Amino acid sequence: MHLTRRRLLIAAASGCAAALGRRAHAGAGTALDRRVQAYLDRKRPDWGRGVNRWNLRYEDGKALHELVVSRGWKRLLEVGTSTGHSALWLGWAAAKNRGRLTTIEIDPERHAEALRNFRAAGLDPYIDALLGDAHELVRELPGPWEFVFQDADKSWYLNYWNDLKGKLAPRGCYAADNVLRPMAPEVAQFVEAAKSDPAFDTRIDDRGSGEGILLACRRD
Ligand SMILES: C[S@@+](CC[C@H](N)C(=O)[O-])C[C@H]1O[C@@H](n2cnc3c(N)ncnc32)[C@H](O)[C@@H]1O
Repeated sequence: MHLTRRRLLIAAASGCAAALGRRAHAGAGTALDRRVQAYLDRKRPDWGRGVNRWNLRYEDGKALHELVVSRGWKRLLEVGTSTGHSALWLGWAAAKNRGRLTTIEIDPERHAEALRNFRAAGLDPYIDALLGDAHELVRELPGPWEFVFQDADKSWYLNYWNDLKGKLAPRGCYAADNVLRPMAPEVAQFVEAAKSDPAFDTRIDDRGSGEGILLACRRD
């Protein structure tokens, strides 16, 4: 892995020590759960507005959280943090599973706001928030990932899939948002590539907000 010193410093500052995080959670899980749920509920009216206008909907975040918790996945990657709504749900799932979330954002202001949200919710020990270009970082980060949530630039959806599908752990799943509201031709190309890959069981879930979350899970 060839992360630059700056990126590593950002990751260290935002993620804290894994061991510290695990100790903090052990025996205090209920308190953390109450704190995160209260924060998500308090912020609920804010998502989708102003600086938070790009965040996924509450019900979709909750569905991703429940999926990750139910599978017990520990190694989570998100591409496209924005201000951190989905990362709060996924980071909370990582905390419950004694795992970690790595999340990537290219915009410094959104990244900074996400860090504030992670700290306020008490989830910063479970989240490595990287500031950088995911086009490069998804190649540099080694994996394997048990769960990937793809929610960044739509024109790169097919490239992200091609770069990341080989880094999924056995039985791991790759999720991508907004596939029913394609904002770039590459989204449809990505959907076709995932559906036609025999190594994956792929479906589109539109029960939440209607944005459409594709879920492609390794068969082996
Ligand atoms: C739809 S928003 C993510 C929303 C977030 N997942 C949530 O639900 O809270 C997409 C984000 O991807 C970021 N992004 C776009 N291109 C990127 C790139 N090449 N590398 C990293 N982040 C990128 C944008 O700056 C934007 O904040």
